[in-house]
Amino acid sequence: MPASDPVVYSMTRAAAAARENAYAPYSDFSVGAAALARDGRVFTGCNVENVSYGLSTCAERNAIAAAVCQGGHDLTTIAVVTSASPPASPCGACRQVMAEFGIERVILANLAGERFDLQMHDLLPAAFDRTSLETD
Ligand code: THU
Repeated sequence: MPASDPVVYSMTRAAAAARENAYAPYSDFSVGAAALARDGRVFTGCNVENVSYGLSTCAERNAIAAAVCQGGHDLTTIAVVTSASPPASPCGACRQVMAEFGIERVILANLAGERFDLQMHDLLPAAFDRTSLETD
């Protein structure tokens, strides 16, 4: 993927900035995410942990929640930035939420400049979606 791709550049920058605000005192694993809406707006999120570990929330879902709260629920792309090498992949719960809001492109990046450019249908094949609710 060309580093000059302006979407990749701006989205990973936004996700890296959000990652700076991660609240991860228990895992010490900071994650930042940036979600791009079809209207061009970018919404960011970071992981927010809790001493009651199960209450911790992921960066991707926090970015998507921020988008929805501000009327940006038609999403196309998400970028996720961690310090992991290779770049970390979204958890299963986040994949399901990404699918709900139409995300098709998933950019994974790390601080060393490694980048993966993935398609949602490869990360979550045979997804449970609204057609799954049609019983008759
Ligand atoms: N985390 C995310 O923010 N996104 C993911 O897709 C996977 C995991 C967070 C949750 C927790 O705060 C830390 O990373 C370690 O699991």
